[in-house]
Amino acid sequence: MNSFKLKNTILHAENVALNQIASEFGTPCYVYSKAALTLAFERFSAGFIGTNHLVCFAVKANPSLAILNLFASLGAGFDIVSGGELARVLAAGGDPQKIVFSGVGKTEAEMQAALNAGIFCFNVESASELTRLNKVAAAMGKIAPVSLRVNPNVDAKTHPYISTGLKNNKFGVAYEDALNIYLQAAVMTNIAIHGVDCHIGSQITELSPFLDAFDRVLSLVDALEQQGISIQHIDAGGGIGICYSDETPPEFNVYASAMRAKLGDRNIKLVFEPGRALVGNAGVLLTKVEYLKPTEAKNFAIVDAAMNDLMRPALYDAYHDIKAVQPRDDESHALIYEIVGPVCESGDFLGHDRTLALKEGDLLAIMSAGAYGMSMASNYNTRPRAAEVMVDDDQCHLIRRRELIADLFALENTLPNV
Ligand code: LLP
Repeated sequence: MNSFKLKNTILHAENVALNQIASEFGTPCYVYSKAALTLAFERFSAGFIGTNHLVCFAVKANPSLAILNLFASLGAGFDIVSGGELARVLAAGGDPQKIVFSGVGKTEAEMQAALNAGIFCFNVESASELTRLNKVAAAMGKIAPVSLRVNPNVDAKTHPYISTGLKNNKFGVAYEDALNIYLQAAVMTNIAIHGVDCHIGSQITELSPFLDAFDRVLSLVDALEQQGISIQHIDAGGGIGICYSDETPPEFNVYASAMRAKLGDRNIKLVFEPGRALVGNAGVLLTKVEYLKPTEAKNFAIVDAAMNDLMRPALYDAYHDIKAVQPRDDESHALIYEIVGPVCESGDFLGHDRTLALKEGDLLAIMSAGAYGMSMASNYNTRPRAAEVMVDDDQCHLIRRRELIADLFALENTLPNV
C-alpha cells in the first residue's frame, strides 16, 4: 500500500494534503503515515504466524518515541545499539523482555542499564565483550542472556558502507572462531547462552545472501548442539531492502517462508531486526523551493531541506524520488534540476537530474525518507532539526516540534573572564 498519493492533484499522506501540513507546521518537515507503519509491521509479522518468533524493530532506523510506541502497541520488540536507545524504548513503553542489544562497543554502564532493565538478549560481538559482560553481570549478581553475533562472510551485495557480514567488517566474531568462543561462554559463571545472531547488512534486495547466511548459522547451531550447547533462538538480523526507485526486494512472505523452510523442525525461536523495511516507505521529507537558480551548467532548485536533514544522498549517493506536492499541468515547462540544500558543501544535494516543472515557493516531497532520515539528521550549519508529524487518516499529530535556534546552543558555555 502506498500511503502517499495524489488526490485531486495534491499529494496526500493518507487523507491529509501535504500542503496543509506545510502551512500548519512549516518546512522542512518529516511526515509519517501511521497506516503505512502499521501495515509494514503486520505484513512482516504475518509471514511468521505459527512460528515462534519476535520482530525487534531496529531503533536506529527511526527512534521517534511515537513510532516506537506504535510498534510496541503492535507487539514489537526492539533492537538497540546504545544506552540512549534503551532509554528511548523504555520511555516509549517498550517491553524490556523483547529487547536485543547489538553493537560492537557496549560500555560497562550500558551493560549495567540493560541488565537492570532485564533485556531479552545481548548480541555479543567479541570475546573481550563476553569477558566484560560476565564480569559486569557477576558484580551485579545477575546472569546475562547472550547470543554471539557471527560474521558469516557472506556478500550482502549492497553499498559497501552498509555491508556488515564480510570478513573485513568490524562486526561480529569470525565464523571459524564462533564455536570456541561459545565453549568459553559455556563455562562463564554469569553468562547464559541463549542464541546465535547474525546481521549481514542493509538495503539488501536479493534473497540469496540471507539464505546463505542462515545456512551457515544453522550449521553452527547444529555443531553447538553436538557439543551439548542448546540454542533457544536465532536472531537473523535485519537488512531487507525497500524500493527507492526500481529495486525489487524480496517480499516479506517469500522471505518468511524461505527462512521457515530452512529452519525445518528445529524447536528454535526466530528473532528479526528489521529497520528500513518497516519505516522507510512510511515517511517523506517535505520541503519548499526557496530559489530557482539557472546557471550555464545546471538548473539548481535550492530547497529549505539539506544534507543535515537527510544525509543519505550526500553520504551514500543514495537515490530518493522527489515529487511535486502540487504537480503543474504545464509539464512542457519542466526542466532538469539539481535539487540542493542551503548547506555550504558541494555534496549538499538531495537529488540529481530531476525533471520537474517548478516555481519558487513550490513544495516537494522527498520520498522513502522514513528510515535513516531524521535519525541521522544533524545541526550542521546551526540548522535546527525538522519537525516530525504523524498522519492518522485525516488527523495529523506533531510528534516532534521543530528545534528552536536557542535549543542548539542551550548546552554551551562561554569562558569566564574573556
Ligand atoms: N540489526 C543490526 C545489528 C544493524 O546494524 C542494523 C542496521 C539493523 C539491524 C537494521 O537494518 P535494516 O533492516 O534497517 O537494513 N544508515 C544506513 C543504514 C545503516 C544500517 C546500520 N545497521 C542507510 O541510510 O542506508
